[in-house]
Amino acid sequence: MMRLSFWLGLSLSVALARAALYKGCQHKVKESIHGPPRGWVKQSPAPPNHIIELKIALPQPNFSVLEQHLWEVSDPDHERYGAHLSKEETDALMAPHQDSVDAVNEWLASHGFAAEHLIRSSAKDWITIRVPVSLAEEMLDTTYHVYYHAESGDSIVRTTSYSLPEVLHEHIDLVQPTIMFGRFRGLKSTLHWAGSSSLASSPASGTITGPAGNQVDASCNNTITLTCLRQIYNAVGYNTSATNGNKIALTGYLGQYANIADLEMFYQYQNPAAYGTNFTFVSVHGGINNQSMAAAGIEADLDTQFALGLTYPTPGTFYSTYGSPPFIPDAMENSSSDNEPYSYWLDYVLSQPDVPQAISSSYGDDEQTVPYSYATRVCNGFAALGARGVSIMFSSGDGGVGDGDADPATQECYTNDGRNVTAFVPGFPASCPYVTAVGGTVNVPETAVFFSGGGFSNYFPRPAYQGTAVQGFLDKLAPGTYEGLYNPYGRGIPDVSAQAYNFLIVYQGEEGYVAGTSCSSPTFTSFVSMLNDARIDAGLPTLGFLNPFLYSKGLTGLNDITEGNNPGCGTEGFNSTIGWDAVTGLGTPNFETLKELALAA
Ligand SMILES: *[C@@H]1O[C@H](CO)[C@@H](O)[C@H](O)[C@H]1NC(C)=O
Ligand SMILES: *[C@@H]1O[C@H](CO)[C@@H](O)[C@H](O)[C@H]1NC(C)=O
Ligand SMILES: *[C@@H]1O[C@H](CO)[C@@H](O)[C@H](O)[C@H]1NC(C)=O
Ligand SMILES: *[C@@H]1O[C@H](CO)[C@@H](O)[C@H](O)[C@H]1NC(C)=O
Ligand SMILES: *[C@@H]1O[C@H](CO)[C@@H](O)[C@H](O)[C@H]1NC(C)=O
Ligand SMILES: *[C@@H]1O[C@H](CO)[C@@H](O)[C@H](O)[C@H]1NC(C)=O
Ligand SMILES: *[C@@H]1O[C@H](CO)[C@@H](O)[C@H](O)[C@H]1NC(C)=O
Ligand SMILES: *[C@@H]1O[C@H](CO)[C@@H](O)[C@H](O)[C@H]1NC(C)=O
Repeated sequence: MMRLSFWLGLSLSVALARAALYKGCQHKVKESIHGPPRGWVKQSPAPPNHIIELKIALPQPNFSVLEQHLWEVSDPDHERYGAHLSKEETDALMAPHQDSVDAVNEWLASHGFAAEHLIRSSAKDWITIRVPVSLAEEMLDTTYHVYYHAESGDSIVRTTSYSLPEVLHEHIDLVQPTIMFGRFRGLKSTLHWAGSSSLASSPASGTITGPAGNQVDASCNNTITLTCLRQIYNAVGYNTSATNGNKIALTGYLGQYANIADLEMFYQYQNPAAYGTNFTFVSVHGGINNQSMAAAGIEADLDTQFALGLTYPTPGTFYSTYGSPPFIPDAMENSSSDNEPYSYWLDYVLSQPDVPQAISSSYGDDEQTVPYSYATRVCNGFAALGARGVSIMFSSGDGGVGDGDADPATQECYTNDGRNVTAFVPGFPASCPYVTAVGGTVNVPETAVFFSGGGFSNYFPRPAYQGTAVQGFLDKLAPGTYEGLYNPYGRGIPDVSAQAYNFLIVYQGEEGYVAGTSCSSPTFTSFVSMLNDARIDAGLPTLGFLNPFLYSKGLTGLNDITEGNNPGCGTEGFNSTIGWDAVTGLGTPNFETLKELALAA
């Protein structure tokens, strides 16, 4: 109690009186995992003064109502298509029941937390508190440890099980960080970064035929520029508006800073008209904007250069969300632990009345390292954005059917659930059915790029909009193919794809090539933003959550990719086939056709 009063400066007697309410109330395990995921080793007890930023999720009893709205306003065959909800409407549908709010308030008060110590999300469905490890251990009847990940050198403070008073189980969905060991990372395969030394010395001259039947510079077969993407995806000559209200946004995490000097140099090379312009910087949860050249992030540079370069003069936003750097165990005593940054980013955007209508995110985790409870809540947040008319794109992953941690050919993939059996490793948030997952292609004519993340979710069932397309793919597999390695009833990944190899960017003042589904997500997002631009000019609402449109009326606006495969986990992965496949989804955009379809939807 001394420590508590010291921390929160509150009255000991009040805290003691409140604590009495929970006396004798039995703690019961809320969530546990078999052990830390592969690669993590328990090192030492967590220092008692280490600060943890605990996020507590209160149930959303009306989420199914929100989901129903999402399906209706996103379905081009429904009379409510485009009738997006307001922030107030989605907040009301995400809100917890007052009984849950009261019960959790009482519990927190019993541990000395007054209203002013709690940070609540806009819908009041998340509460954040800062607590020392010692108090978190008491509240959750658990013991935190420092875990070490040899391959990355990261250390984190986690546990493998936590408990809550039994009466609170129905009022709390989850508390994190506890059992989450995800290693959220940028989906740019560093494997493929190559500086200027490997630039194609003499790009081929002349033209070749692109997927839409138009002419494309032959050099686009080995070097991807803004001009190439406009040509390949049939959007040459389409002009966007700077002032019609349309916006595009990129997310940055993990100290990835978008460098403006790099952006300007890129514009000089690839879009001189945009030279001198930049983006709106938005700091989330203390994210900074470090413009030192040495702090430029390859992921953030890629995302901003291609998305803003393709859609210029559409106003762009770059969100910089603070994420904990890897800990140095020696300094852990006075440092603090956060959650994964998606939830902070979601808290922020969901609290804003106006959100850019197309947003790309090139970050992800192995689905199995994100607890089901947490993945579900984050996914629900994306549903709320979709219902509000925002299109959210995620890279599908850079490890084919595996996790991208190792050479796809030799990679071993094991489940985390204690069974330790071999299984494919889908990525999250790409596996969330309320986002558009973007896989990768290479060359002209386009084929699947070998690392294109694809497969099937083990958490989320196949959504109705995928029914026919995904069943068609499964029906074509030879009987018994990869039996037991994937969940044939799961949400199929990806939905669509775009070029993902040999993107020519400027990074720390130097031109060089980069590859990864980190290239394809901002690319696809740019064409979605152009579609929104056309819809806004025509007086129509934006496209919002895209998938129901893409799998129905938009289908003929996508170039089907039928060659290539995505090896991983010691297998050849899936094959790209006619129709949807678990490598390139429905295919790549044909902008002019999609525009006609989107304007008619
Ligand atoms: C939430 O659901 C309850 C029970 O079904 C209903 O009474 C209430 O009106 C709903 N709230 C909203 C905001 O729709
Ligand atoms: C593009 O490059 C690929 C791989 O080198 C090659 O197979 C293909 O024929 C090229 N495309 C054209 C149109 O030459
Ligand atoms: C786009 O803008 C350019 C430069 O202002 C102009 O030459 C071109 O005609 C415009 N294209 C369309 C389709 O309006
Ligand atoms: C970014 O653009 C804004 C508005 O045009 C400008 O004020 C600012 O100086 C620019 N920042 C840099 C670093 O060029
Ligand atoms: C910005 O980045 C540079 C280079 O990495 C670093 O030296 C500097 O401390 C950073 N500044 C801040 C405010 O973090
Ligand atoms: C933590 O902070 C305390 C008080 O400021 C200080 O005495 C101690 O040396 C710090 N520990 C570490 C490991 O930095
Ligand atoms: C899982 O099984 C593999 C292969 O049998 C083995 O190498 C690995 O150590 C096992 N991992 C765990 C956590 O038991
Ligand atoms: C992929 O296609 C090759 C060549 O047709 C075939 O041998 C292989 O079995 C297919 N793989 C799958 C998973 O369907």
